[in-house]
Amino acid sequence: MFFDTTRAHVEIAGARAIDCVVEEAKDHTLRAPFKGNMDIEKLRGLIEKHGADKIAYVRIETGTNLIGGQPHSLENMQEIRKVCDEFGLMLVLDASLLADNLYFIKTREEKCKDMSIREITRAMADLSDIIYFSARKLGCARGGGICIRDKDLPLWAGVDQLGRSAPRATGDQQLTKSYLTAARATVDQLIARGALRPN
Ligand SMILES: Cc1ncc(COP(=O)(O)O)c(C=O)c1O
Repeated sequence: MFFDTTRAHVEIAGARAIDCVVEEAKDHTLRAPFKGNMDIEKLRGLIEKHGADKIAYVRIETGTNLIGGQPHSLENMQEIRKVCDEFGLMLVLDASLLADNLYFIKTREEKCKDMSIREITRAMADLSDIIYFSARKLGCARGGGICIRDKDLPLWAGVDQLGRSAPRATGDQQLTKSYLTAARATVDQLIARGALRPN
């Protein structure tokens, strides 16, 4: 499930962000170990419907923010990877809320109970083509990071274009005029698209 500003940026770029989370994620009264899992059949169906050539990447979010930080399993990520390989698609991991998800994989996923946290992290990284994260959730860091498997992949990011925290933006940089102007422009675009309501 796409984090709201991620969805906004995908859609501002002219693409569509389609949520593929399992049905149980939508019932907040239900208790289930991995409500952040992706529905593999839905994913496959969407790829077949739209065609792999129309899909830029498949994205999974650890500790899925919009449903209260629900985790996904390592097994689910392995299944997603298989589908991505089958259709030649990149797998992008939003690892902003990685820590809690790691804990739940270790404590709830039988096959992972003897793995160290480092080994689970490594396994998740090995399944990903791109990992990005906002480090601001860590409480000890600013900005974030982007890790890319393919060194030749063109990467376009920055405060001025995106109007949000660029990988190297520090708290001080975020108070510069260009950052604030770009951030304001993003808000204006969201309002224009009906995604935000001014008060
Ligand atoms: C999963 C996830 N991705 C991305 C972000 C965006 O982070 P930032 O505001 O540092 O760009 C957040 C923020 O809460 C998040 O929870």
